[in-house]
Amino acid sequence: MDKIAILFGPTGGNTEKAARMVAKAFGEDQTHLIPVKDAQESDLMPFSRIIFGGPTIGTHTWSDDNQKKDWDIFLTRLYKMNLKGKSCAVFGLGDQVSYSFKFVDDIGIIADHAVQAGGKLVGLVDPEGYTFDESKAFRNGKFLGLPLDEDNEPELTHERINHWVELLKTEF
Ligand SMILES: Cc1cc2nc3c(=O)[nH]c(=O)nc-3n(C[C@H](O)[C@H](O)[C@H](O)COP(=O)(O)O)c2cc1C
Repeated sequence: MDKIAILFGPTGGNTEKAARMVAKAFGEDQTHLIPVKDAQESDLMPFSRIIFGGPTIGTHTWSDDNQKKDWDIFLTRLYKMNLKGKSCAVFGLGDQVSYSFKFVDDIGIIADHAVQAGGKLVGLVDPEGYTFDESKAFRNGKFLGLPLDEDNEPELTHERINHWVELLKTEF
């Protein structure tokens, strides 16, 4: 079976840490990590299974101006891509306490773009165990991907990722 692409960004923070944990949970030789910065459609075309990972605003916004627009630029590209026949899953970093009304919004935004591009969305997650008020990632009783909260619940990240990867192994 072909490898799984994990497209993530920014680098150097919680998102990269989570991307590497997802890769490890699958087995590193099963995955191919792709930084979102400068990523093109041609980088994704060889893969039939793609995982997208990003924070809802984060290091890319406040500590490195050059990385600020990486996801924005990629999303405009993603919108026009042809992902027909590909399975897509999304994980997102967020903060349930400080951003309870916008918790992991980017999961919803990225998922919408992937579906618009023709991808089949898998890896939806039950809300049990999360405390939040509103989220663009929450539809019809499920998150459209895996929320991770390194700010408030870092001790749960490992288990959440392992559980999600087991789900993806059955849905991909
Ligand atoms: C300026 C700023 C804005 C943020 N906005 C949100 C938000 O709207 N929703 C949310 O769930 N988390 C929000 N967060 C939390 C980040 O998503 C979280 O800290 C994440 O782990 C950062 O990932 P990174 O280290 O890869 O950048 C925000 C953080 C910062 C610093």
